[in-house]
Order: sequence, then structure tokens, then C-alpha cells
Amino acid sequence: MDHLLSRRAAGATSSVIRDLLHLVNRPGVLSLAGGLPCADGFPTERMAVAAERALAGGGRYGVEALQYGPTEGDAELRRLVAPADVAFDQMLVTTGSQQGLDLVARALIDPGDPVVVEAPGYLGALQAMRVCEPRFVPVRTDEHGLRVDELGALLAAGLRPKLVYTVPNFQNPSGATLSLERRRELGDLADRFGFVVVEDDPYGALRFAGEPLPPVRLFTDNAVTLGSASKVLAPGLRVGWLSAPRWLVGSLVRLKQAADLHTSSLAQRIALDVLSDKAFMAGHLPRIADLYRARCDALVSALDGVLELSRPDGGMFLWCRLPIGSARLDTTEVLPLAVERGVAFVPGAAFFVDGAGHDTMRLSYATLSPVELVEAAGRLDGVLADAERTAVLAGPAAK
Ligand SMILES: Cc1ncc(COP(=O)(O)O)c(C=O)c1O
Repeated sequence: MDHLLSRRAAGATSSVIRDLLHLVNRPGVLSLAGGLPCADGFPTERMAVAAERALAGGGRYGVEALQYGPTEGDAELRRLVAPADVAFDQMLVTTGSQQGLDLVARALIDPGDPVVVEAPGYLGALQAMRVCEPRFVPVRTDEHGLRVDELGALLAAGLRPKLVYTVPNFQNPSGATLSLERRRELGDLADRFGFVVVEDDPYGALRFAGEPLPPVRLFTDNAVTLGSASKVLAPGLRVGWLSAPRWLVGSLVRLKQAADLHTSSLAQRIALDVLSDKAFMAGHLPRIADLYRARCDALVSALDGVLELSRPDGGMFLWCRLPIGSARLDTTEVLPLAVERGVAFVPGAAFFVDGAGHDTMRLSYATLSPVELVEAAGRLDGVLADAERTAVLAGPAAK
């Protein structure tokens, strides 16, 4: 009966990573593949207090936590998460930032429209946008984020994208942060060529090194900025938010209304209660940043001499390249051997729309403890050494 499926449903892809997680979540496998935040960082007790208050009826929020609410989101929460440079009526609460991606895609993309994405890029964004049948134009990233100079060259050659999607802070999957200069240049290009910059920033608060940089939004009138409570509180809440230019925000609200009326009132009240507790957040944010710093340091030092990498300034991901000389290995082919030996990663090719990245992999240090990370790195070292030896024995024709 699948001939009954719409073209949209038939064309919707599953996330490679979600599929992979079924394979790697075997007992005994130390998985560096997942992208789940560290559960030790969930403020469980504080959230339980918030949930109780929200449901108490006589408390601050009363029955509102259980009632339908406005599509735009709880007014207090919108005010709380609105950055100083953004007006309240440009803020929309979303069901995770993933919904923000879906809404922006549906508001802007018609089939065949060119859309610039980072290579490597966040798979969930590709998945959300693919439903609208864009023509993806990948632009490479390096250790300073999106190659804005390459984007500039494409624009000069005639490319006219509807939107450019970027994760400016500790990008998923590369861990790279977009430099200040490139943020400014990207904003200038957006104004000059009339496209929307969609800056997706779920990791910005997880900075454990370096100084925070201004959002791209400050350098253009055409930016949508996506934020999320998933990494600072807990992803199961499904609370995110976005800011958008006035000409766009009304369309986003109408599309959201059609999709889910509004984000869970209860989840919004819980998020508001915790995020507005300044004294609590002042202790909580550094605590989770420290948690990720310790894990990142453990994995980076354990991989010294095993893989090429650059240490991120925050977030959850380490992007690694096989050392030059082992270029004959393909990380997609190494993965099953690794799983057999009790370690898993995401092969880098999964993050490219154009088949590149076969000598790369994404490692997440968020889920395992520092001790487990060191053990996982040791196993990976063993697998790569064995795979390399087998490839050498097989001769130059082998990959
Ligand atoms: C770059 C990026 N954007 C968006 C999301 C989705 O987050 P949320 O839980 O807010 O929907 C993720 C989740 O991993 C992500 O890595």
C-alpha cells in the first residue's frame, strides 16, 4: 500500500545516526557515536521543583500549565529568552530547535530552491529541509567554521540561495566555531545578496574555552537565530525558541499553528521556572561546561598520535581525520570492525551531501565518563592499527 504515500513522505530520509544507534547500542560497546547530552548535567531536582510548582494550581502558574496556550509561546518565556537586540514580538517558542528548522524550511523553500549547507553539516537540518525538496549547495568548513570566502565566490558566480544554514558555535559535527570576521562577512553577504542566514545555536552556552562571539544576527537584518533548552536543561523537555525578522515571523507562527498549535504549556512553564532562576543558572551553566571540558580533555589527550584533530572551545563533538598516510582507509568500512572490538563512532561521510569525508569521523565525548573515553580511544587506536595493517597487506588496489 505504500503507493499511497505522498511524494514528501516517500522522499523523507531517516537520520543515518539514528539508524546507526541501533547497531552500536549493544552491550559492551563504548559508543562515541551518539549525540545525547550528558545526563549527569540534567538539573533533575531543580526541574522536579519547577514541575511541582507548575502543577500546583495555586502556585505561580496555576492551571495555565495544563491549558492551551498562545502559538507564539508563553509571554514570560519569550521575554526571558529574547536577546537584548531582539523585540519580544520577533520571538517564537518552538518544540525544540528542530521544529524551528522545519518551520523555517517550510516558510522559505520551494522545490528546487538553492539552499547552502555546511559540509560537513548537521544531519537533522538536512533531514528537516529535504522534505521541502531544495537543491543543496554544500560549502566547506574549516577550523574557523563555514568558508565564507567560498560562499562569496559562489554568489559572485551567480548563485542566489534562499537561505544559508550554519551552526556558528562548536558546530555539530566539526566542533568548529565561526570566526568573528566570517560572521561579519556572512552578515554583509546576506544583506547584499538578499538571503536569510539561519544560525542554529543549541551549543553556545556550553563554552569551556575562549570568549563568546556575537551572533551573525548582529551583522544582518536577515537572520533567523535558533536556540534551545535541550543542551542547557534537558532535551526531553522539547523547548526551543527562535528570533526572526518581522516579515517572516508571522508565517512561522501560522505554520507552527498548523503543526502543533503550540509547544507544551507544562514544558514551557518548567523551562521558564528554571531558566529564570538566576542564582541557580549561575551555578548550573559553569557546572555543565566543566563536565564537558573534562570529557573533551580526556578524549583529546587519549587520541594524541592516533588521529588528527583540533580541540573545540565547547559543545559535545570532536571531528577527527585519519593521519596522512592512512588515507587508504575509509571510516565507513572501519566502523563494523570497530563495533566488533567494542567502540563506535559516526563515519564522517554521513555528514556530507556530496560523498566527501571518507577519512573523517565524528566522536562525541558527551555521554561516556572520562575513564570510559580513555578506554574507547585505546580500542579505536587498536582497530585503526589493525585495519591499516590489513589494508597494507592487501596492496595498493585495496581501499
Ligand atoms: C546543530 C543542532 N541543531 C538542532 C538540534 C536539535 O535540538 P533540539 O533538541 O533543540 O530540537 C541539534 C541536536 O542535536 C543540533 O545538534
